[in-house]
Amino acid sequence: MRRRTFLGAAGAAAVTLAVSGAALAQEAVKIGLILPMTGPFASTGRQIEAAAKLYMQQQGDTVGGKKIQLIVKDDTGVADVTKRLAQELIVNDKIAVMAGFGLTPLALAPAPLATQAKVPAVVMAAATATITEASPFIVRTSFTLPQATVPMAEWASQNGIKKVVTLVSDYGPGIDAEKAFTGAFTAKGGQVENLRVPLANPDFSPFLQKVADAKPDALFVFVPSGIGAQFMKQFVERGLDKSGVKLIGPGDVTDDDILNGMGDVALGAITTQHYSASHDSPENKAFVEAFKKANPGMRPNFMAVGGYDGMHLIYEGLKKTNGQGGQALIDAMKGMSWTSPRGPVSIDPQTRDIIQNIYVRKVERKDGELYNVEFATIPNVKDPVKAAKAN
Ligand code: DHB
Repeated sequence: MRRRTFLGAAGAAAVTLAVSGAALAQEAVKIGLILPMTGPFASTGRQIEAAAKLYMQQQGDTVGGKKIQLIVKDDTGVADVTKRLAQELIVNDKIAVMAGFGLTPLALAPAPLATQAKVPAVVMAAATATITEASPFIVRTSFTLPQATVPMAEWASQNGIKKVVTLVSDYGPGIDAEKAFTGAFTAKGGQVENLRVPLANPDFSPFLQKVADAKPDALFVFVPSGIGAQFMKQFVERGLDKSGVKLIGPGDVTDDDILNGMGDVALGAITTQHYSASHDSPENKAFVEAFKKANPGMRPNFMAVGGYDGMHLIYEGLKKTNGQGGQALIDAMKGMSWTSPRGPVSIDPQTRDIIQNIYVRKVERKDGELYNVEFATIPNVKDPVKAAKAN
């Protein structure tokens, strides 16, 4: 009898513990942030993690009365790992939303899981145009390569450039950049030759030799964030910095994280993109200052702003849904607009891509540092690939 009573009491205590554990778990809204924190694309992971943490530090970790818990996972830049981590975060941690996704293959791998589990996935980095079509639960706060690139073709054709060689990393975003540039530039009467370099361990020198032989007015380059310094080193080794060939492209090659280390060779490069650390606005000044203070020795690049805005989108979405994830959260994110450090932005409700200004920039030395200094603005640019499909 006594024994049974004892067991009963212990059982009741265990049940109470289990219930309060479940209640606690329900109260915390979990965000799974999957990023390449190690490997060749670790700069993207570092930038996004730093920006996401800064956002939480500034805005607090409670939204709509619910505690927010950020769970950061390193996929090492391998798509199978991204997929496994997404599965574990959905099944074991019961995340409300996943985010991050440092490269196109890493964003595509978990897309079927987002659809099956109805878990929104906020793409903060990857930029191949088609990514948002892989799941109705994907929303993007980075950019698309065609969005950043078409304005480059227009600038080149208006500025006396007639013959261009394109050199791109041979995968989704590089091919998007090549096609967008070639299509828009040849439509204006320009002449283009296309070269593609492998994504993994790229050796640019044989391609740069071809560029030196072809003597174009400009070399258009796309390499993913973090790789620009390697490219620039070989550009100098091949003597292309003294050849009069102008360096142009979307802004990934002169990414703010590594631009300062490139030295004077980068001066004068013209790029088109959505973010520069030198963007002149009160929101950006505050963002850059806070980012530098929280991360000594680092300067935010376009990946950081994708992470910062991605967190903003998640927070504002959760405010609208009172902490609910799923369909309600993705619906709440559609059409959202705000002032980002990059300028005014909104989420296109049809495509779940970001609509934003694209700036034309030139690398200049300012206060002893190299910056992409913006000198022209193309306002409210949509992804042109999806815009063309919709017409
Ligand atoms: C992608 C990755 C990058 O680092 C970048 O600058 C642009 C695009 C991508 O894989 O989608």
